[in-house]
This record gives sequence, structure tokens and C-alpha cells, in this order.
Amino acid sequence: MKRTEIGVALLGFGNVGSGTYRALEENFALIEKKVGAKVVIKKILVRRLDAARRIDVPAELLTTNFEEILKDPKIDIVAELMGGINPATGFIKAALTAGKHVVTANKAALALSLPEFNKTAAFHHAMLRYEASVCGAIPVIGCISRALTGNRITSVKGIVNGTTNYILTRMAAEGASYEDVLKDAQALGFAEADPTGDVEGYDAANKLSVLIAAAFGVYRAPDSFERVGITGVTMDDLAAAESEGKVIKLLACAEEKDGQIEAYVKPVTVEKDSFLGRCGSEFNAVQIDCNMAGPIFLQGKGAGPEPTGSAVMGDIIEIAQAIVNGTEHAQPVTALM
Ligand code: HSE
Repeated sequence: MKRTEIGVALLGFGNVGSGTYRALEENFALIEKKVGAKVVIKKILVRRLDAARRIDVPAELLTTNFEEILKDPKIDIVAELMGGINPATGFIKAALTAGKHVVTANKAALALSLPEFNKTAAFHHAMLRYEASVCGAIPVIGCISRALTGNRITSVKGIVNGTTNYILTRMAAEGASYEDVLKDAQALGFAEADPTGDVEGYDAANKLSVLIAAAFGVYRAPDSFERVGITGVTMDDLAAAESEGKVIKLLACAEEKDGQIEAYVKPVTVEKDSFLGRCGSEFNAVQIDCNMAGPIFLQGKGAGPEPTGSAVMGDIIEIAQAIVNGTEHAQPVTALM
């Protein structure tokens, strides 16, 4: 019997959870047409029922009990949007094991456990999708894994953290202080709960690990390559770069050389008038080099509730369409070789 409704649970209702809720609410009728069924949020897992929220939602959607979601047969897709390693990693595994499809924006959990998540999803015939984990709204995982899959990718490099790009852009343009701009980035919903992850490059390293798996089909743990953040970048460094027509960007790069993947995350001085040099504020940019398509340039908002919610919805819709068409499958989006 054809499905008329696809049930979704959100785990977490912070910046990304509320952005996803907004994206579904705003485009509900359009999404229904595309899927051929209503996509409905059935439950939202929160830490506290009485916490202040970015947007209002019906109280009956909220729960503090993950088991309730796991056992609910009306929930087809679990969207893990809480971030952090624990309890998110356990929730992702439990949902896949229960045969639920999973969408996650959690680069930290993916960077630690992608091979295990893939195996669990395959074993339980569940779909696992994570476009929102890298570069917010930019469809970089889909681009690499689907559109460019007929290529041998030789390098992926870019600006993959919105908070640090926002900070460096405003420090260079306005001479604004690091502390003030970081506070603004937190208020705008770009920064992680603990912004150390952003400014010390851990977030970019996690995203690079996910990108390496997509581009090269190998798993590289984020602590296996060089990682330097932006806390050592001074106003003098920015002014010196400016005087030469350059800017400093936190770059994440991975390149295949003689069968080995060389990777790093670190501040790099680039020409102001270059693809990466022109990418400012919370925008992200990625250049992918490959052997058939030539260079591909992607740019868009890399952080923020609605841009990230847009990417989450893209994955939810792909899975919902598969459920409606009876083509649900366990094929991982990133096949590790
Ligand atoms: N803190 C992250 C960033 C959020 O600034 O890029 C999006 O992953």
C-alpha cells in the first residue's frame, strides 16, 4: 500500500534542529509534492521540556525519552541534530539497529565512527545520510558521491568552517577584536556549543575526515593529520597579508600523492582575488579537482540554522522518496574501499 505519510523524529532542537523544523514548515506543500507523501515531524528529543527555544513548537511533539522514538513504528527517519560524540553516537547506532533510516549533521561523531556507522546501516538495511555535516548548505557530499563518482578525485581543498571564516573576515575588514566577533558568531548560531572546536580547527578536521572518506574512499581519523586553528593569527599577520593583496583563511586540504592522502587543516595566506580569497563571512567554499570533470568550485553558507536545515531536509527528502517508491536501500553514500 502506498505510503501517505513519512514520520520523522528530530534528536535535538538547537540551531540545526530548529532550522530543519523551519525548512520543513516553510516548504511543507512543495516537499509533499516532491515526495508524494506528507513528511511529518512526529517527535523532537530535547534535554529539558521547559527550556527556552528559538521557535515555538507544539508541546506534544517534545520528549526527553529516546526509547519512545526508537519504539514508535510511525517514525521512519531519525535526524540526529544534537551534535557531540555522546550520547549522539549511541543514538545513531541504536536507530540504525532498530531499522530506522538516519540523517545526521554530526561531523564529530561521523569522523570518529563512520566505518562502524556504515557497517551498522548495511547490516540493518537502513539508509544513512549526512550532507549537513560538511559545509552547511553546500551539497558537497552529494556532489562528490553522486555527480562526480565517475572521476578519480585528486584533491579537495577549501574553507569548511563558517565561524572561523566569519571571525577572520571581520577582523581583517574592520579591525574588530577576536573576542567580540566570536561572540557575534555564537549569537548568530554559527559556532559550536564549545567554540574551541571551531577556533582550534577540530571542527574543520572532522569535516575533512568526512570529505576524505567521500572523495578517496578511505577513512582517515581527524587526529591523523596536521591541525592548527586560528587562535595564533594576529592583527599584525592579517595586516601583513593585506599589504601584499592577500588574506588569511583556515584551509582544509586533502590531496592524493602516489597513492597516499596528504591532509592538513591550518591558516594559509591566499591571494585576495582568488576563489578561496573571495569567500568571506560565514560562507564556505570547496574546490574539487578530478580527472574527468576538471576543477569544480562550490560556495555557499557553511553555517547557520536554516542553511544547515536545508541540507538536512535534502537528505530527509531523498530517504522519504525512497520509502514511498519502495527503493529503500542500504547503499552507503560514502563507500569505504
Ligand atoms: N560551527 C560550524 C561552523 C557549524 O562554524 O562551520 C557548521 O558546521
